[in-house]
Amino acid sequence: MKDNYHFVAISGSLRNKSYNTMVLKAAQKLAPANIAIEQILITDVPMYNFDLHEKILPESVEKISTAIKTADALIIVTPEYNYSIPGALKNVIDFLSKHPAKPFDKKAVGIISASPSLLGGVRAQYHLRQILVAVNAMSMNVPEVVITEVNKKFDENGNLTDEKTKEFLEKFIVALADHSSILSSEVLIE
Ligand SMILES: Cc1cc2nc3c(=O)[nH]c(=O)nc-3n(C[C@H](O)[C@H](O)[C@H](O)COP(=O)(O)O)c2cc1C
Repeated sequence: MKDNYHFVAISGSLRNKSYNTMVLKAAQKLAPANIAIEQILITDVPMYNFDLHEKILPESVEKISTAIKTADALIIVTPEYNYSIPGALKNVIDFLSKHPAKPFDKKAVGIISASPSLLGGVRAQYHLRQILVAVNAMSMNVPEVVITEVNKKFDENGNLTDEKTKEFLEKFIVALADHSSILSSEVLIE
């Protein structure tokens, strides 16, 4: 275990009042003092086009790549769009998969999904796990955080009010720190 951890976190939703972004911000507040969670925005990433981006990747992608590469772990909080992840999130992963630095390679990744539905975006969560296999990310298996009826779990100021969800998030953050420590041990990396 390290003394301090630096995680980065992406919300798969671009909208201003996104519940998934609210979950991300709640995780930032709930994290213990030795774990900092920095949000990375994906709003400025253009659509991937091999013709345009074969040689030079956009500055926004360079920034995200460096942030993930240097972080102890990445958290992705995603909505479900038509039983999968939103195109904007898939687009960023496609870009990063072409980056020579390979930011996902052996990276500890924690996945959260949230939806107003009773399934909590679990189908998107499993699509995301499958996609992350392609980039050799090391997704944490458990605890799974699937937030159902997310629209009932925040107050009008965007504060998480559901105690059970708070508990799940706290456990998830600490487990992700453990997961990243195991992955960065010499035995597994070298
Ligand atoms: C294009 C689109 C497709 C959606 N498909 C699903 C779906 O398959 N499953 C689901 O639970 N919710 C679905 N929803 C509803 C989203 O879960 C809901 O809009 C949610 O609030 C989006 O997350 P956000 O609040 O973080 O933006 C869909 C929403 C949109 C805009």
